[in-house]
Amino acid sequence: MRQTLIVANWKMYKTLAEAEEFIERFPGEIAGISGMETVICAPFISLARLSVLTERTTLLLGAQNMHWQKEGAFTGEISPLMLRDLGIKYVIIGHSERRLHFNESSLLIKRKVASAFNFGLIPILCIGENWEQHSSKETEKVIAEQLFGALEGLTVEKDILQKMVLAYEPVWAIGTGTPAHGDEANAIAGFIRSLLQEKWGEVSEKVRILYGGSVNPDNITEFTGKEEIDGALVGSSSLNVKTFAELIRVVFSERRA
Ligand code: 13P
Repeated sequence: MRQTLIVANWKMYKTLAEAEEFIERFPGEIAGISGMETVICAPFISLARLSVLTERTTLLLGAQNMHWQKEGAFTGEISPLMLRDLGIKYVIIGHSERRLHFNESSLLIKRKVASAFNFGLIPILCIGENWEQHSSKETEKVIAEQLFGALEGLTVEKDILQKMVLAYEPVWAIGTGTPAHGDEANAIAGFIRSLLQEKWGEVSEKVRILYGGSVNPDNITEFTGKEEIDGALVGSSSLNVKTFAELIRVVFSERRA
């Protein structure tokens, strides 16, 4: 059984004060929820403070990006060592916004994934096709390229690799209010699992695959209710305490039903 995982990606939103307010209120809003993981990927500058505030809660923290080196002359960057030092557990790697706006290549993403594993962080590797690729039915080709581009040649033990999280985020569904259809997302998640199975065998059954793109409390179970989908990567619906708490509660109730 793969544990359900709901990840908030706050992107470039929330000052430190806003982040603190959220984290102070949120545990009360989801009291009584158990058996699933909730991760908040906050901006770098809030992580140190949030790591203190989340200490006695069930909330876990993640970063939205990182450099692949331990330390060095890389102005403006944050290292995996710095994240680990704060007790950060997860790190989003290869989000489509980073591929698009910051020219992140497969090689760079591969380095970051390898480095995350080296430093004991769990990468949440994002893959997904854009609208043009979707319309020309290239989704599977793009997914396979992005997946193998990030993982091919990686030398990590299977018991470490299986902790990895993959997020299928069709670019056309991100921030548009138009999510993928649940069955469509489930089929792609199944395809991703079949690619993992080909290369890494039983690891494929352990890796959690999330869906991301215009997820909200009203549509979340269309995804989490599917066999191949183990949770969600949530952007705008994770910014408001009440909305995100409702989303978590909906998933929890569905799992118990
Ligand atoms: P939205 O939920 O705002 O569409 O964002 C999805 C996303 O990019 C999460 O990483």
